[in-house]
Amino acid sequence: MHYFYYKGKGLYCENICLANLVKEFGTPLYVYSRQTLVRHFQALNSAFTEIDHQVCYAVKANSNLAVINTLARFGSGFDIVSEGELRRVILAGGNSQLCVFAGVGKTEAEITFALENNIYSFNVESQPEIERIDKIAGRLGVKAPVAVRVNPNVDAHTHSKITTGTYENKFGIGFGQIPSVYKWASKLKNIHLKGIQMHIGSQLTSVKPFEEAVKKVAPIAIELKNKYNIEFFSIGGGIGIVYNHALVSGKPTWWKKPENKGILTTELYAKRLIPILKQTGLKILLEPGRFIAGNAGVLLTKVEYIKKTGHKNFIIVDAAMNDLIRPAFYDSYHEIVPLVRSSRGPIKADVVGPICESGDYFCKDRVLPKVKPGDYLAIMSTGAYGSVMGSNYNTRPFPPEIMVDGSCYGVVRKRQPVEKIWEFESIPDWE
Ligand code: LLP
Repeated sequence: MHYFYYKGKGLYCENICLANLVKEFGTPLYVYSRQTLVRHFQALNSAFTEIDHQVCYAVKANSNLAVINTLARFGSGFDIVSEGELRRVILAGGNSQLCVFAGVGKTEAEITFALENNIYSFNVESQPEIERIDKIAGRLGVKAPVAVRVNPNVDAHTHSKITTGTYENKFGIGFGQIPSVYKWASKLKNIHLKGIQMHIGSQLTSVKPFEEAVKKVAPIAIELKNKYNIEFFSIGGGIGIVYNHALVSGKPTWWKKPENKGILTTELYAKRLIPILKQTGLKILLEPGRFIAGNAGVLLTKVEYIKKTGHKNFIIVDAAMNDLIRPAFYDSYHEIVPLVRSSRGPIKADVVGPICESGDYFCKDRVLPKVKPGDYLAIMSTGAYGSVMGSNYNTRPFPPEIMVDGSCYGVVRKRQPVEKIWEFESIPDWE
């Protein structure tokens, strides 16, 4: 559930009319709903009240300081993947002691910085990484908290670029090797075996793969608790969101509702997993990113041209793949709706950006309301893996980001001035 909806003809975010925001800030423009972030965090958090748990928001989904700050205020911990993300958490008022550090390639500098800031645990992905952490912890005279990421070899049935829980992937340590790796690591002087972790993939719309993986890992977690006194079991992130009818109300009657692959609710997720997790007696960590931020953001864009080729119609807008790469990269679906609703239409069209790549599109052959140059569109469900995956490709500045909270709004990232794009470039003084 989110707080984007039509009131009269206008699309709103909470109590703010989005047409007013584009007038004030221009386009492309990201807009986030603070109440949606909080609502998603609380829905998941309260679904697990029955057991000892900690939600650690996956910062990579949307690392804006205001997003981190909002979630920190409601008690979120954080799943981080770089020194930069840990620095963001600290800067935004998050607690580094509630941070778990994931990723297959942690550098010495990153491990050192994380240890100096007392993070909750490293989610480690290989034996060489444990060796490196042990050495650095020894140098610093501390014991490093560690959880091994187990690869449960469960197919999450999600997009191939975001599935992580099978032996085809670079992630985690094979299920069968876990007992021997813990035995080996328990002898390292500077390692504190604190937990076990898994993450099988992203945008899962069925509870089944989660259930299967948790069922597989729970007995090992219990064994590790008995042998090494580990204290937590992190079940990772991956809860999918609804992309294909993100705006349920207010559609014209001709609007064909795209097929909905189903909604994974927090109630269902908790209901099916808690009975298994409870038996472990361990603290449970959850690492959602998309579930919290995905439907809390939209990308607003202006229609520049309508191009009719005889074969197809193209709606050319001022946002591009550098602002939102998900359709180009994953062929992902994002609902696209006008900021001002009209009864014009329908038109079948591709919505495309100005970049010279055929991947620069937001939808293909989509039935949309007829728009004209100067109209505005909202690309829905772009709060997660939207702006964070942006680039300056084509020397296009990063768009501004606004956060709405009820009837208030604030700039949470200014539009990047174009000169900043080449700020760190220089021309060597060749002879
Ligand atoms: N934990 C770990 C270890 C992860 O690797 C990830 C995401 C998460 C948690 C959070 O997953 P989430 O709850 O957001 O599904 N750029 C892609 C998604 C990449 C996900 C990478 N790992 C996209 O735009 O769909």
